[in-house]
Parts: sequence; C-alpha cells; structure tokens
Amino acid sequence: MSKRFDRRKFIKTSILGSIGVSALGKDILAESSQVQGKTVVSKPKQKKQYEKDTPKLRVGFIGVGLRGRSSLGLVLRRGDCIVPCVADPEPKAIASTMKMFDDAGQIKPVAYQNGDYDYLNMLDKEKLDAVIISSPWTWHSRQSIAAMNRGLYTGCEVSGAFSLEQCWQLVNTHESTGSHFFFLENVCYRRDVMAVLNMVRNNVFGELIHLECGYQHDLRDVKFNDGKTVYSRGSEFGEKAVSEAKWRTIHSLNRNGDLYPTHGVGPVMNYIDINRGNRFVYLVSMSTKARGLHEYLKGIDPNHPNAQLEWKLGDVVTTLIHCNNGEKVLVSHDTSLPRPYSLGFRVQGTKGLWMDINGSVHIEGVSEPHRWDKQQSWFEKYDHPLWKRYENDAAGAGHGGMDWFLINAFVESAKKNEAPPIDVYDAATMLSITALSEKSIAMGSAPMTFPDFTNGRWISKKPNFGLSDLY
Ligand SMILES: NC(=O)c1ccc[n+]([C@@H]2O[C@H](COP(=O)([O-])OP(=O)(O)OC[C@H]3O[C@@H](n4cnc5c(N)ncnc54)[C@H](O)[C@@H]3O)[C@@H](O)[C@H]2O)c1
Repeated sequence: MSKRFDRRKFIKTSILGSIGVSALGKDILAESSQVQGKTVVSKPKQKKQYEKDTPKLRVGFIGVGLRGRSSLGLVLRRGDCIVPCVADPEPKAIASTMKMFDDAGQIKPVAYQNGDYDYLNMLDKEKLDAVIISSPWTWHSRQSIAAMNRGLYTGCEVSGAFSLEQCWQLVNTHESTGSHFFFLENVCYRRDVMAVLNMVRNNVFGELIHLECGYQHDLRDVKFNDGKTVYSRGSEFGEKAVSEAKWRTIHSLNRNGDLYPTHGVGPVMNYIDINRGNRFVYLVSMSTKARGLHEYLKGIDPNHPNAQLEWKLGDVVTTLIHCNNGEKVLVSHDTSLPRPYSLGFRVQGTKGLWMDINGSVHIEGVSEPHRWDKQQSWFEKYDHPLWKRYENDAAGAGHGGMDWFLINAFVESAKKNEAPPIDVYDAATMLSITALSEKSIAMGSAPMTFPDFTNGRWISKKPNFGLSDLY
C-alpha cells in the first residue's frame, strides 16, 4: 500500500466529499439545470461512505475484456485496493478474470454476468467506492451516469461521442451528483509525452503556435478476425467475431469522422492548457474516400459478403481545431490503411519544436541551425519528476508503463475523492470532437463550434495535470 495513504484522512475526506455534494451542490445544480434549452432533472443519490474498518478502496469493474483486464491487473498489484465485483456478460471474459484473481492469490469477486444490464445490479447491491468502465463505446455514457448517480468515483475508458447531448449528460450528472468522473486517457502519461509537457512548462519551445497529433494505427487486424481468437486473421466482424471486432468495426461501416481522437488530443490539451486558461473554439474536418478496409477484406477472401460492403469511414480523416489563445491543432484519424503506429505528435512554438515521427527536437540557439537533435538527450534532461520517482513501480505495466501512472492517478485521486487530473470537462471536450467532426464532414467541412462545457470556468481554472507529487 502507498505510504502516503492515510486511512483517517481518507475516511475524513470521503465523508467531507459526501457533505460537499450538498454544501456545494446548490451552485452547481443551478448552473447545470439548463442544457441547450432543456431542463435536466437529476436526483442525486446519497453518497455511500467508505467502510470504516477497511482502508482499502473498493473498486468494481464494468467490462473485463482485454482493456478491462489490463487495468484490473494493475489494481490487483496494489495493496490499497480490493475488487469485490466485476460485471461482464461474456462468460469467457469472466473466466479469464477469475483466473487472474487465482493467480494473484486474491478472493474471487462476485461476477455479474447475467446480460448487458447486470452491471446495474452490481452497482445497486455492492458496496463500492469507485468503478472502472472498459466496455464497448455505446455503453460508456450510460454506465458512467449510472455509477455517478450512485455516488461512485467513476473512471471510464476513452472513445468518441455520438452526440453533444451525450457530453452534456456526463457534465450535468457530475455537477448534480458531485461524483467525480475520471477520463482514463492513458497517453497523457506516456514518458516522452510528459517530458515534452515538462519542456513546454519550462518554456523550451517558447509560446506554442501549432500542434499535431492523431490516432494513426493500422487496426485492420483488430477490426476483423475469424471469430475464434482475437489474433486470428479473418473477414468477420459483429456477432460472428470476438473482442473489438465484435463491436468496434460497425462504427467504420456507419460513421465518418474522427472516431477516436483522445489519445492524441489528451496530451495536446495539457500542452496548451485547454479548459485551464484556453479552450477549443471551433473545428473543421475533412475525410478521404474509404478504400482500406475493402482492399483488406478482398485480400483475405474476395467472395466473402463483407468484402462487398461499402464503408463510410474515410481512410484518413483530418481535423483542424482553432483555439481561443490562437493555436491551431491538426488531428489525424488513420486506422484503415497499412502503416506503422504513430500518434504523430508535433509541438511547435516560437523557439522550436518536437516531432515524434522522426524522434527529433530543434531549439533555436541550442540546436545546430537547421538541424535536428535526437529527442533522447532532451528527454533525459526534462524527464518528468513523476516518471523519475515511479519508474520502478511502472516497470512492466501496459503501454510502456504509462498505464501504471493512469491507474495510480485514478486510485490516489479516488481515495481522496478529489477532482481528477483529467476531469469530466476534459472528457466532454475530447469526446465532442467526434460528434463535431462527423457533422463537419457531413456539411462539406463546415466549421463547428465547441460548446463551453465549463460554463466559463475555463478562464480561471488552473492547470493541474502532473503537478501533484503523487500523480
Ligand atoms: N486506453 C487504451 O490504451 C485502450 C486500449 C484498448 C481499448 N481501449 C478502450 O477500452 C474499451 C474496451 O476495449 P477492449 O479492447 O477491452 O474491448 P473488448 O471487446 O476486449 O472488451 C469489452 C468487454 O466489455 C464487455 N461488455 C459488453 N457489453 C457490456 C455491458 N453491457 N456491461 C458490461 N460489460 C460489457 C464485453 O463482453 C467485453 O468483455 C473501449 O472503449 C476501447 O476503446 C482503450
């Protein structure tokens, strides 16, 4: 267990957190009662208090597929949490989960596996402090809202929104219940990404001007399989497939927009203080034709019915975001063509830039004129203090260790019931890019304005990401 985890303080802050809902709630409720002209009726439930006889954070899991189990593994490694229950309708996912508890020598959780809505029984019956949601995209909002309505500290995996209303519902539920929503955007914790954040904050790049990022990941093998195992090549998706191909691929058939903006945009939002002194104002999106998935399926079996389908998602979707403080962000979504993985970061200011695609930094007056430095020397100098401190704890964790930092941040902020470093306003902002980009493309790349989910509080909110000595 973390040495800094003070049980009495934990219980005290938890109780204060519950009181805070009613004490602070008035203001917040007043602000959240209107959503685009609609009145939002919300009935916050009494927050559950932590068990007095145990200092452990009780974390439930909704969705224990590949990602859920990866996060679960990190929680099971900790001494300050217990996982009393999990919910997932897929028997194989439950079986793999139970084996993890056996392997970790921990008491098996209660499994809620009786259909898609059994998670509600879990939320109602179990005594939980927090929940981690790693289900398919269409479930994220309703499960998060159900958890927040029950007073739980809610962590939810990343995706893109289906509508702006969905984003508002998350914001309004947080504001009316006082329950926190932690958007589990792990790339914000990538070591190089955090070193660059440190460089930005030390003014190495000067004033930031232009940024690039994206989700550039050849997902063709993820979008299709043979229905037997995740990694076996095949033409199936939907009910005949397994894992992400079961639910993710259908979005490429029906939607055209940046379907997965958060891995790139999360870090960029930290670089330019979005929702903390700056905000996204409007975007325009443009997409290419869709050929990649069709060509891929033709290559596997040209006679398969899926090889005859017409896909809606353009192979490369490009979005440009204009920011209040004058920066521009270029966001790419590129998941259907052959290519090596890259989130394509570029962080450029008045003194120089970082580009991750060629692993390079150039800083005027320090680098040779018109020459690149290898990024490593810069990253060693500006390695983020959190990475220096927790490198060993993070060793072996998913995605180069960054997932350890994410789960650590979730658990530590949940223990104190305090506002997460990536909060519901950040979530709504990132999620809304998908809905706005779909609309922009459908309307000939028309500009789409971002709602101000903070209701003006972005002006005075201060940056907090990576600034605590714990997470
Ligand atoms: N941050 C990251 O690096 C990262 C990586 C992979 C996936 N993800 C995200 O994590 C989420 C899950 O992805 P995955 O790869 O684990 O997919 P997966 O298909 O392997 O797992 C999803 C699980 O959710 C379960 N599920 C479906 N409906 C449910 C319901 N109603 N209630 C409870 N569980 C339900 C499924 O049975 C399955 O076990 C997605 O949002 C995905 O975008 C994030």
